[in-house]
Amino acid sequence: MALLSIIRYPDTRLHTVAKPVTVVDERIQTLIADMLETMYEANGVGLAATQIDVHERLIVMDISEGRDDPLVLINPKMLWTSPEKHLNEEGCLSVPGIYDGVQRHDTIKVEALDRDGKARLIEAEGLLSVCIQHEMDHLMGKVFVEYLSPLKRNRIKSKLQKAQREGRVANKV
Ligand code: NI
Repeated sequence: MALLSIIRYPDTRLHTVAKPVTVVDERIQTLIADMLETMYEANGVGLAATQIDVHERLIVMDISEGRDDPLVLINPKMLWTSPEKHLNEEGCLSVPGIYDGVQRHDTIKVEALDRDGKARLIEAEGLLSVCIQHEMDHLMGKVFVEYLSPLKRNRIKSKLQKAQREGRVANKV
């Protein structure tokens, strides 16, 4: 297994739209293992392939307390979203140190392949629902700060660019 580099906002590669995974093969298995290792090492609850500069529809997550219950979504498709929304505080491994409120659907239904390539239907609420919506946005090239006001977003941009110039943010997590 290997730790992968996480792309930081405002890197424009984060705005790439991912393509579907065509076959769940050995290459994808290695990618899943590396992404999980990278996510756990960075103490994240989710990581989309976009964030490690692989533009395929693949997400890894773990919202468990024990950090021992990985969830893998390949080619996720949103089937249904509840009209009810909630404001949740979110962060992102690509936007280190920044947390802010985003409106997300309370409940969602998603269809995806699991790590064995088997089709699964997932009904999610709470943190899992928020996390899936956040990660699926990544696959569409969208970072959560894009829901914030332009003023806030520009502040975050300058802050992160300054941190990167000063070498305060490691490139490798
Ligand atoms: Ni994120």
